[in-house]
Amino acid sequence: MSDTSTTTSIGTTTGTAIGIDIGGTGIKGAIVDLETGSLLSDRVKLPTPEGGKPDDIVMTVEEIINRLPDAPAEAPLGVCFPAVILGGKTMSAANVSKKWIGLAAEDLFESGLGRPITFVNDADAAGFAEVRYGAAKGQKGLVIMTTLGTGIGTALIYNGVLIPNAELGHIEVDGGDYEKKASYSAKERDDLDWKDWGKRLTKYYGQLEALLWPDLFIVGGGVSKSYEDFLPLIDIRTPLVPATLRNNAGIMGAAGFAAEANR
Ligand code: BGC
Repeated sequence: MSDTSTTTSIGTTTGTAIGIDIGGTGIKGAIVDLETGSLLSDRVKLPTPEGGKPDDIVMTVEEIINRLPDAPAEAPLGVCFPAVILGGKTMSAANVSKKWIGLAAEDLFESGLGRPITFVNDADAAGFAEVRYGAAKGQKGLVIMTTLGTGIGTALIYNGVLIPNAELGHIEVDGGDYEKKASYSAKERDDLDWKDWGKRLTKYYGQLEALLWPDLFIVGGGVSKSYEDFLPLIDIRTPLVPATLRNNAGIMGAAGFAAEANR
């Protein structure tokens, strides 16, 4: 319904919207108060169906919406997903089923759910939420949101305007896609302690810093709750702050996007 492949200005909106965050292992959703970003319902979370196939995911999203108590049928609905999204199509699939590549995913959700949605990249949603409600509220200049999880998600926000689909998790460092070396799943896979992961993160953020000269990095993803263990080990010039919205940033941002699109 709405094309999020153009820039979005992160203003203020009031009312409520539903946000759904689709991830590789879980799908979660809640009703969001757009003024404060707080959740007005319990968060409903279901496992991502085995194989992550499109029709199965649509069914799980439907189930989550049905389980949200008192979800207003007319509330804007935002869905975020871990892929590049252009004109409502999913254009990549780094950590999800390859069946998503080139799929008219927004149309698929809209026909499956029987209502319009706003469809957006997961890191863009998280960045939007951190700028509107969290760690980068009021921050001027270039903010780069990063999410360290199965992959590395990134969002570029300049003076409150989001430039969508930045895929800076995949920059090449040491001759390879560095998401595979510096993501949280790489830390787990290679059994790295904080210090060794910190070295990889210094390389990663140092490269981004050299290319883009941001004013601030935000470090999100589930592991950001342990930020005291690894943020001080990232040795770069640019300030780095932990995300404050943690695992709800995607839900809040997806809801916020939907509300912007419906204005
Ligand atoms: C994907 C991004 C996504 C990120 C976090 C990356 O592998 O390419 O689109 O935002 O993972 O989920």
